[in-house]
Amino acid sequence: MTMNFQIKYKDARARVGVLTTTHGRIRTPALMPVVHPGRQTMPVSEYGAEIVITNAYLIYKNQDLRERALEEGVHSLIDFPGPIVTDSGSFQLSTYGELEVTNPEIICFQEAIGTDIGTSLDIPTPPDVKRKRAEDDLVVTLERAREALELRGNLSLNSVVQGSTYPDLRSKCAQELAQMDFQAHPIGAVVPLMESYRYRELVEVVMASVEYLPQSRPRHLMGAGHPMVFALAVAMGCDLFDSAAYILYAQDGRLLMPSGTYKLENLVEMPCTCPVCSNHSPGELRSMDEDERTLLLAQHNLAISFAEIRMIRQAIVEGSLWELVEQRCRAHPYLLDGLRRLGAYQEGLESYDPPYKKSAFFYTGPESLMRPEVHRHWEKIKKLPRKEAVLLLSPVAKPYSQNLTHYLGVVHYRGDCEGVVEGKVPLQLAVVDVPFGVIPLELDQVYPLAQNETPTIMDRDAHHQVKEMVEEYLEGCETVLVEGELARKYQLELDEEATIINPLPLDTIDLERVRMIADYQFQAGAGRALFDGQVRVVKSRKTGKIRHLYQGEDLIATLRASDGVLVLAALGARRLHQYLPYPLNRVVVNEEAEPFAREGKSIFAKFVIDCDIDIHAQEEVLIVNSEDELLAFGKSILNGREIIDFQTGQAVKTRKGGL
Ligand code: GUN
Ligand code: ZN
Repeated sequence: MTMNFQIKYKDARARVGVLTTTHGRIRTPALMPVVHPGRQTMPVSEYGAEIVITNAYLIYKNQDLRERALEEGVHSLIDFPGPIVTDSGSFQLSTYGELEVTNPEIICFQEAIGTDIGTSLDIPTPPDVKRKRAEDDLVVTLERAREALELRGNLSLNSVVQGSTYPDLRSKCAQELAQMDFQAHPIGAVVPLMESYRYRELVEVVMASVEYLPQSRPRHLMGAGHPMVFALAVAMGCDLFDSAAYILYAQDGRLLMPSGTYKLENLVEMPCTCPVCSNHSPGELRSMDEDERTLLLAQHNLAISFAEIRMIRQAIVEGSLWELVEQRCRAHPYLLDGLRRLGAYQEGLESYDPPYKKSAFFYTGPESLMRPEVHRHWEKIKKLPRKEAVLLLSPVAKPYSQNLTHYLGVVHYRGDCEGVVEGKVPLQLAVVDVPFGVIPLELDQVYPLAQNETPTIMDRDAHHQVKEMVEEYLEGCETVLVEGELARKYQLELDEEATIINPLPLDTIDLERVRMIADYQFQAGAGRALFDGQVRVVKSRKTGKIRHLYQGEDLIATLRASDGVLVLAALGARRLHQYLPYPLNRVVVNEEAEPFAREGKSIFAKFVIDCDIDIHAQEEVLIVNSEDELLAFGKSILNGREIIDFQTGQAVKTRKGGL
């Protein structure tokens, strides 16, 4: 078995990866066009295919194809030099009901013809069957998966997740397959869901599966070939798509677009910029003979599908996949249902989504309120140490503190307002804004609290959610002051009214600022541990923003300008290591890797023996040995679960060793 998969970039649950087999390296997410053995008319690699899928059963069943495949190999048979995945005939089983092949036969055959990734003879249980049938089918699917392992020889193996529309059966199947030595996991029997636009259930089925599949194996959404669904599926963690849609739709006179499907018979304009659409009018295409037209439409369909896959990979690298998913899911009400359903899986999404990204957070509609960034901020805010009194302010231009140098106006309040005015009670200043709710001013430069854009006209969902957040934030707060306009806008229940002149002590809060950033970034208390009274703050001459934090001549940490996050230096790493109890923020490497870590070399996943499972990608982490001695520190590339699951590729980019 010579297959390797590595993750390079992440966004939501999506991964940009590299999949390597003996026939080459491909980037994922990838679309694998279905190549019909013996009947293929299109050179799919000319249109962008790096990997294809073909059907081993169709080859096996045809004597001529079978003999040629056995003699020259499947790559020569279908004339494709890159990685080839083969399906087993299960789909034919589900469509025609009978098969002339057994599981052992088709496994051995796939090995013999040199497939890169073969598939066992799973049972594609359709949606909505009685539970008993789904369970019985699953027993057979799992038995055949186990049998395939025995007979595989050198073959890398797919193992298909089934379980009909029962999320718990999908999860159970995924859990069992995860224990066995498979290289990739298709999610099967979803074609009927996609054909009938049941995206909400598609999301349930996929999320129930990916939650239990190893992070280190690519997942393949079987039979998904409409570009409309790629972005949503990728956001759920799918890496591979396969489909004959490009040719089936072409035969039917239909054009795929990421926004839906066009019928050639209805077109007065060609809808895209591919060579086919640029060089032909709808009328010309309609008057062609069928074969010629089908070929051209199939070319368009492939071109647009690969363009969408490239756009998705770009979005993941930039950190803007959610925006793309939101755009795509507005193409159809049922796709929007899928997105709304996905929004309910906040915990899972949050743990895979990198907290710091290159691109700003764009609020593009009420579904943006369900994004992992919003959930994460709210969970973190709830855990921060609280002051006795809070003053809530209306948003101004970001970053808020630069445009809020003092506050003069009417406040509504409850509690001990005098104490605040006399300066006896410490006051927490915070801005109330969409979509993050309450933003303490100390955090106003931390990603994405400054790096987000929201329409100036608020929708009702946002108003409702922010009001709820504010009310929750204010619970248990002794003294509450709210700017008059803000109190009215959110109809907050406060009785007294007063005018205060409150000079905001913003230039004196440097230390409080960096402490709260540390509490927010690591854990409550980390701020005091990192920055005690003797901190020397160095600011940027150009922007006036905090850049470096020293103890004497010793650098503790740097505040990264792009996202307002602390980047540790050696002293900071030592202090954090002392403060945070094991295993928090730790990546534990084995003895073999220890000298490399000490030298400041990056950490490969295979040398990691344990880690804090709650680490996110892009976080500052401590690299220790099994005695919890600090060896080095760096930035995680993967999250905790991924670091544990992967046996190849980098886990942590080390900043510095020799601690
Ligand atoms: N192609 C589309 N759906 C399926 C499935 O569930 N199993 C297999 N093996 N192939 C498929
Ligand atoms: Zn086109």
